[in-house]
Amino acid sequence: MQSIKAFENFKVHHLSKEGFQKFKEQGFLGPYTLFKENEAESFLKKLYANVPNCLLPSYGRHGVIIGVAELSKNSHILNKVTCILGEDVILWGSHIFKQKPCVKHSFHRDAEFTELEGVVIWLALKNVVSEETFSVVPGSHLFELSPQELKAQGVNINDYQTLEEAAKKINRESRLVNLKVRDGQYIIFDGRLWHGTKNTTAKHRFSISLRYSKPSVKVRIAKNGNLPNLSWCKSKPVCLLVHGQDKFHINKLIDIKDISKSKGLIRGLFFCFPVKLLRNITRRITLGVIKTYLI
Ligand SMILES: [Fe+2]
Repeated sequence: MQSIKAFENFKVHHLSKEGFQKFKEQGFLGPYTLFKENEAESFLKKLYANVPNCLLPSYGRHGVIIGVAELSKNSHILNKVTCILGEDVILWGSHIFKQKPCVKHSFHRDAEFTELEGVVIWLALKNVVSEETFSVVPGSHLFELSPQELKAQGVNINDYQTLEEAAKKINRESRLVNLKVRDGQYIIFDGRLWHGTKNTTAKHRFSISLRYSKPSVKVRIAKNGNLPNLSWCKSKPVCLLVHGQDKFHINKLIDIKDISKSKGLIRGLFFCFPVKLLRNITRRITLGVIKTYLI
């Protein structure tokens, strides 16, 4: 995969030359403040209003919830995204994370980015704890291996110390960093960066992620994060042109004016809900079999 292109255009971007260089080296920047903490919670409430989670496509919230689409076009965010990707940018993925209390999402590389170039915005919305919630390995976007592949080799990627030692074997300068990010703040990272999240609180933790690429990139969604054996969803993700032009026409673009909650929910009822239901049933049956025969 090509590395993210050079800082091409110095217009009114919010990243300095040094900032861009830092992004290239460490694979992330931030946190940046977008909202006050109480505003972040109000924003979250608006996103969730009257939208049942089970009817929403996992990575396509922007096709149904106008607030997500508007957030993706926020100039504070876009000024940084365009600085990294160039003037023409599409949003192809968005996800609202609701992490249960005392749950860890082990270190991983967002699987799609092993094959396509792009950046992710991760915005903290509720119960995000500074230096506890979001961890990264700076520079790991340049590693050939992903945490998922290390796991397949028997490395316990759930344990942060083991993960850091494995990263040091790839680059001895590597270290694991717990980011000082709080509700209302966001970070921007290269899609290939190793990252993990934790919810150390007794309440649900909320955040939202936005995935951006250039229109020249043919985007698609992975069925799961099993690297290196990726399998892909057949349906094309819905994309928004958030900045510049699309001269390539290889992705499924929708106009922000066409975002309709009712249409999205009807689509969700016929496509997302049955898939999620089937996955849930399969998971429960598998767990039942494991409990019966192995425990
Ligand atoms: Fe991720």
